[in-house]
Formats: sequence, C-alpha cells, structure tokens
Amino acid sequence: MDKNQVKKIISPSELGIDPIAKAHTIPSQWYTSPQVFELEQQYLFKKNWQYVCHADQISAAGSSYCSRIAQNPVIVFKDSEDQIRCFYNVCKHRGGPLAIKKGTKTVLQCQYHGWTYLDDGSLRGVPDWNKVDLFDTKDFGLDPIPFELWHGLIFVKLNEASPSLNQLLGGIPEAIAPLSLSNMEFHSEQVYDIHCNWKVYVDNFLEGYHIPIVHPELAKLLDYRAYTTETAEWYSLQHSPFKKGENMYSSKGGQAFYYFVYPNIMLNILPGRLQVNSVIPVSADQCKVVFSYFYEDAASRTKSGLIQEDIDYSHQIQLEDIEICEAVQHGLASDAYHKGRFSVKREVGVYHFQNLLKKEYRDVLNQL
Ligand code: FES
Ligand SMILES: [Fe+2]
Repeated sequence: MDKNQVKKIISPSELGIDPIAKAHTIPSQWYTSPQVFELEQQYLFKKNWQYVCHADQISAAGSSYCSRIAQNPVIVFKDSEDQIRCFYNVCKHRGGPLAIKKGTKTVLQCQYHGWTYLDDGSLRGVPDWNKVDLFDTKDFGLDPIPFELWHGLIFVKLNEASPSLNQLLGGIPEAIAPLSLSNMEFHSEQVYDIHCNWKVYVDNFLEGYHIPIVHPELAKLLDYRAYTTETAEWYSLQHSPFKKGENMYSSKGGQAFYYFVYPNIMLNILPGRLQVNSVIPVSADQCKVVFSYFYEDAASRTKSGLIQEDIDYSHQIQLEDIEICEAVQHGLASDAYHKGRFSVKREVGVYHFQNLLKKEYRDVLNQL
C-alpha cells in the first residue's frame, strides 16, 4: 500500500461530516481503488469484529469451519472437551492450510506435507525431520485468534480494539423480543460471488429506497410508507411491518428487522427466522456474500415447505440486488460520476454507515 497515494485518494477535505441534508456520498474512487481496499483490509477489517459461523455448524467434537478474515485464513473447531478453538489456518512449515486429521477428533493436520498440531495449537508431528538443526517445536505452534460468542454466533477479532461484542450489539435482543436469536437453529448456507466493492453491497442493503424499483415483488409485501431506519452507535436498524393479508411472513403478524452491524454484517430477523449475511471483501471490485439461514422449529417448517419458500424468496431478492450492485460498480468506475447526495427520508442508514467509515479512515490516516 502506497501511503502517499492513499492520502491523495482519501483527502482530509472528503472526511468532514455534514448534516444529511447537506452531505455528499463518499467519492467513487473509494469504491474502486486497490489502495483503499488494501487500507481497509489492513486496518478496518482487522480491528472490527468479524462473523465466522454459528456454534451449531461445529457442534460435534472434531468439526471445523474455515473462512478468511481480512485476507487471513481462519479455522474454528470444537475440541474433544467441547471447547471452541480458533486459529489462523496457516501451517508454520510453509503456510499450508489445516484440517482435522482423518480418524481423529481434534488433531489438526496440514494439508500440504502433513505436520500435525494438537488442539491447543502446539506442534506435535513433523514427518521426516531428522537432521534438521536448531529446531524446537515450541517455536512453531499455531497462532490463536481471540473470539467471542453472541447468541451462538461466533465472532473473531484479529487485532485488539474496542468495543466489546456486547457494546457493539447491545440493545438488539431487547428490541426484537419476544423473538429470540438463541432459539434459532442453523439450517444452511449459501455463498454469492459478486462483482462489486463490498461497500456497494452494504450501501444497497442500507436503504429501502430502491425497493419499489429493484424488488417489485418485495414491495407488495412490505408497507413501504411505514418503513423506518434507526441508528445506534455501531449498527442501524431498518424495520417494516408487513402489509395486511396472507403471506408467508405476515401470518404471525410480525415485523421484519434488518440490522446492519458495522462494518459488514447483516442480521435479518423475521418471525421464527434469522438470516445472517456476511460481506467478505475479495478485491476492490469484488466481494463474497455468505447467507446463513437459521430457523425456530426447523423440522415442522421444513415439512410445510416454509423453509424452501423462504430461501427461494431470499435468493430471488439477492439476484435482483446483485444485478443492480454490479451495474452500480460500473457506474462508480465511470468517468461520469464522482459523488452524489442522500435522500433525507430514505437513506439515513447509508449516511450513518458512510460516516462511521469516514471516522475510521480518519483514525487510520492519522496513524499512517
Ligand atoms: S506447509 Fe504444512 S506441512 Fe508443509
Ligand atoms: Fe435490495
């Protein structure tokens, strides 16, 4: 990352915070520049909590889940004592990836030359290693990663920083009661590769302004006039009552809560259903979005076909969002766009996100 170049792209004059009625959206180059992408990976994604998976996905001893956080491979697994463990998924020999060794419950084995590690990360087995001088296995243990659980969801943080997970997400369980995240069981996961900057996808999630145009079918379900956005320190909430009438979500008379947790996690909560979206940056103009589905009473809902209906419906909305986000990425990269303005009524969530981002950029640039 060329620091001087980054400072040119993210100039102090663009980092001021104006009231929404006067504010501009962030400049297009922040969505297209590889230097900005690099800065975000190095600083922003390492110091903020990142969602990895649900404890249900590694419920049996010896089951594991692999992901990449800020370009770092990560593995979480359940050890033989029922404890969750989390390490950089990087072997200390030549950087290979690890997996639980076949026939064992918690020995990790490198998938390259077979070094093995115990579940505390210590190096145990090193095949064909005699004649190697001045080698102490103690110097070659795996690097652990701090993690926390919140209602079964596992989050990691690569660098120490505030706030705690409870400070970050405080208020959400109370706001959604009587719905409870702890009652939801993991059902399935779907991954989407999208050709847009991660912030394009986040911006798009953060407003209902596009619903009438991009999602005409969803517009029929939601009461768009009553759609509201609230903001907390590190997250925002969009919620909307369902229109009266029979549809798969309104039959319980519920609400839709769409939480966005800075910088890249979404919790979409409907009666009896939680969908977590995690937006993983891949490059300046590419991201990966993981949808994880959780349900209350999964067995009875599966029988009645409600789960498939829910997943198919979300998939359809997602295809519509992907199409518009990819088109927007081209628009942002074009010669015809620099920055825009906000709808005071409909784009409070985008404004809130972009202000948090500016604050973090400002902190990072001061450190460089
Ligand atoms: S890279 Fe892991 S054993 Fe060689
Ligand atoms: Fe959308």
